[in-house]
Amino acid sequence: MYAFTAAPGQPKPQLYSELCAAAEALTEGEPDAVANMANLAALIWQLVPDLNWAGFYRRSGDELVLGPFCGKPACIRIPLGSGVCGTAAQRGESQLVEDVNAFPGHIACDAASRSELVVPVMRQGTVIAVIDLDSASPARFNAEDQAGIEMLAQKIALRV
Ligand code: SME
Repeated sequence: MYAFTAAPGQPKPQLYSELCAAAEALTEGEPDAVANMANLAALIWQLVPDLNWAGFYRRSGDELVLGPFCGKPACIRIPLGSGVCGTAAQRGESQLVEDVNAFPGHIACDAASRSELVVPVMRQGTVIAVIDLDSASPARFNAEDQAGIEMLAQKIALRV
């Protein structure tokens, strides 16, 4: 059994530092990328409040393919450059979107989503996947969430 809990109202830097420590512990010594992504999606879902989708898209050639996640079933293939995820993957840059309806080309997988944070997972300078977080609350994510998920992406890059 793995028991990870977040204290309610915890400052974000502390929450993400605990998330990263738990992520490292959970994936240590396990070479199976799918198993690791599945557990990491579940961990994010459990520790990060106010999400309606959390998971991975994996880079496959010139598109992203749906990976392990928590939330409603989602679109399976996203061309690089399309939507928030495809933009993050093509540019190799995180996308912090306060209002998804104002993002040109946003792909609505869950109509309830209002804001989104997508962070690339890089290995040797190449985007191998993205971590996608959605929330039903407008402007749910800020620079602290972005820094926290970027730290997570760095820590797990060799394990997914
Ligand atoms: N909204 C994303 C698509 C993936 S879902 O949110 C799970 C996008 O615009 O790329």
